[in-house]
Amino acid sequence: MFSKYRKTDAKSDTVAPEPKVAPKASAETSNTSAGPGEAPKATRRAQELEAVPKAEIGVSDEKEAKRRQRLDELKTEMHNRLLDNLNLSALESAKESELRAEINAITSEQMAEMGVVLNREDRQMLNVELFDEVTGLGPLEPLLKDETVNDILVNGPNRIFVERNGRLELTDVRFKNERHLLRIIDKIVSAVGRRVDESNPYVDARLKDGSRFNAMVPPVAVDGSLVSIRKFKKEKLGIDDLVGFGAFSEEMAAYLQAAVSTRLNVIVSGGTGSGKTTTLNALSSFIDNKERVLTIEDTAELQLQQIHVGRMESRPPNVEGKGAVTQRDCLRNALRMRPDRIIVGETRGEEVIDMLQAMNTGHDGSMTTIHANSARDACSRLENMVAMSGIEMPIKAVRAQIASAVNLIVQASRLQDGSRRMVSITEVTGMEGEVISMQEVFRFQRTGLRPDGKIIGHFTACGVRSHYAERFRQWGYDLPAAIYEPVAAE
Ligand SMILES: Nc1ncnc2c1ncn2[C@@H]1O[C@H](COP(=O)(O)OP(=O)(O)OP(=O)(O)O)[C@@H](O)[C@H]1O
Ligand SMILES: [Mg+2]
Repeated sequence: MFSKYRKTDAKSDTVAPEPKVAPKASAETSNTSAGPGEAPKATRRAQELEAVPKAEIGVSDEKEAKRRQRLDELKTEMHNRLLDNLNLSALESAKESELRAEINAITSEQMAEMGVVLNREDRQMLNVELFDEVTGLGPLEPLLKDETVNDILVNGPNRIFVERNGRLELTDVRFKNERHLLRIIDKIVSAVGRRVDESNPYVDARLKDGSRFNAMVPPVAVDGSLVSIRKFKKEKLGIDDLVGFGAFSEEMAAYLQAAVSTRLNVIVSGGTGSGKTTTLNALSSFIDNKERVLTIEDTAELQLQQIHVGRMESRPPNVEGKGAVTQRDCLRNALRMRPDRIIVGETRGEEVIDMLQAMNTGHDGSMTTIHANSARDACSRLENMVAMSGIEMPIKAVRAQIASAVNLIVQASRLQDGSRRMVSITEVTGMEGEVISMQEVFRFQRTGLRPDGKIIGHFTACGVRSHYAERFRQWGYDLPAAIYEPVAAE
């Protein structure tokens, strides 16, 4: 059968060229050539597979693990044969349906040649997995498609975790071995023009669909390659969704609307994966459509709904160590681009100086996130970043600068039951001596734990009127005094 997706010189019984994947069972022999009198490797594999009684590859429940192992071995063999037979350069332009049909046809041919018979269900599964191997990201593909998965975390070939509803779960997805995992990593990073190997052992990238990707390979990653993927969600959570999920209360939403609309400078603080970027994105919906907003990120994740948005993404250096464009470079340039507001995805380094200056000099209404565990901690982190950036300034001056730049700190947190909540909203009110003064306006009051591990609690105001209440009123956001009154537990 002729097809443009087939190699013209394909020989089905030759050993596959690199990248090769060693079948588990024959891993020890995979680097040795066949000795005298022995059958060629591929034929030997086929014989081994043939030796599996046909009836056994199939439905037996108690032999499920064994069956899965055999299917994996068969998949390895078929994958090698597919690589031998498929014209990889023609795949780029292939239609999915054509390619699926072609893969099905080749596997049928090859299985007939090997004398392997599979039931319908296994055959379909094999074809789907082979398609994912050839075109996509192999074992990761179903996890990427699974809408309920937020994060995918790979700790070497045999331990793949996912995060669902704020909780980590170990999956039964496996790579065949480290080489298989490395091949998939290589496929991902080369598609975005990057490289990862021993001399360049980690990489941060954005996948085609917008997902954030990070990988670190051995020997720096000691027990096998480490991969983390934060999946991109087309439908970002909005304020209403977050209120609906119990991430914050309606009163807090009304307060935040007033704060963002009246151009207070806001910092969203939180731990890793606590929902900082999601919160920042949701808060940005309160920005007026007339304003020009510039966003600066290391990995472009924000999706602002306004019409006048300019997005920037920093760039790491190339292999020769040149061509880097840092967040600070973007920020400095942004100041010359007549922004009404600047949003920095995450402040983590030297750009802090320019961010604080921007907040202090006419670009009020700017926002950023910061990795910290409380409002006070966020201020210390800012101080440290200023110190690390090499600027010599007395600590009091640094604090004064922070106190006048930052108006509001929203603390996001992932609680132990996996729920993500805004656990505190704190206003920065000025300086008292050498200390930045603050007042907490809203918080999440935890009251107990349900037997199923769910946290019981409620949002409450802290009984203080906003420091910015007068500003809100002048701008037309006359929040009722009642929203500042504490709520008793039910
Ligand atoms: N309140 C929420 N309820 C449910 N899911 C949420 C909530 N907030 C965020 N998420 C989800 O949690 C994941 C992590 O959120 P996000 O990227 O905003 O965290 P982050 O703090 O910015 O993480 P990082 O520290 O890695 O930058 C996302 O998949 C997001 O959709
Ligand atoms: Mg983030």
